[in-house]
Amino acid sequence: MNLQLRPATTADIPAITAIYAVEVEELVNTYEYEVPDEAEMTRRMLDITTRGFPYIVATLDDQVAGYAYANSYRARIAYQWTVENSVYVDARFQGKGVGGALMQALIDECTARGYRQMVAVIGEPTNTASIKLHERFGFQLVGIFRGLGRKHGRWLDTVQMQRALGDGTESAPTNE
Ligand SMILES: CC(C)(COP(=O)(O)OP(=O)(O)OC[C@H]1O[C@@H](n2cnc3c(N)ncnc32)[C@H](O)[C@@H]1OP(=O)(O)O)[C@@H](O)C(=O)NCCC(=O)NCCS
Repeated sequence: MNLQLRPATTADIPAITAIYAVEVEELVNTYEYEVPDEAEMTRRMLDITTRGFPYIVATLDDQVAGYAYANSYRARIAYQWTVENSVYVDARFQGKGVGGALMQALIDECTARGYRQMVAVIGEPTNTASIKLHERFGFQLVGIFRGLGRKHGRWLDTVQMQRALGDGTESAPTNE
């Protein structure tokens, strides 16, 4: 299959919304209960891209197979060189290298934009695929918060992972 990456556009919203709907309804990789509609997913995409963060789709034979974006980790100004990542691959296309390709592209884009740390917030410790994916790309476990979330009738522990981008903490940012 032909795997390609490109910046997401609003034309990708129906596919992205469908991928995310499964995560919201069936899984705990997002701590959201209600499936956002296409208008809300469009609003979120434009909010991310207009603030200068990368939002990428992966296609397999021209069909959207997954997407990834970076967003601010926290709003307070001192966090401005830190991003949080999100990577979602359609269940039908998992295990084919899509998530890895998206992760590499997201790391490259965020490094090029001068960000220094990437944080992953993973919905529960049993998400082996996500934890292994992050380990493969140099993320280290920071810790596990106990019971931060509750969904599908159970308490959720939240895995925090992190990797440096570019110089990390070795130098001051040029845009300070
Ligand atoms: C996590 C996820 C993005 C991985 O995407 P993917 O396209 O299946 O991953 P890839 O095929 O590119 O695999 C890349 C690496 O991830 C790891 N990985 C992926 N699936 C795995 C699995 N089921 N078990 C163990 N490791 C796995 C491996 O390290 C793999 O590298 P390798 O093939 O060299 O061993 C995908 O499973 C997914 O979308 N899951 C649901 C949403 C989610 O958890 N997103 C992350 C939120 S933080």
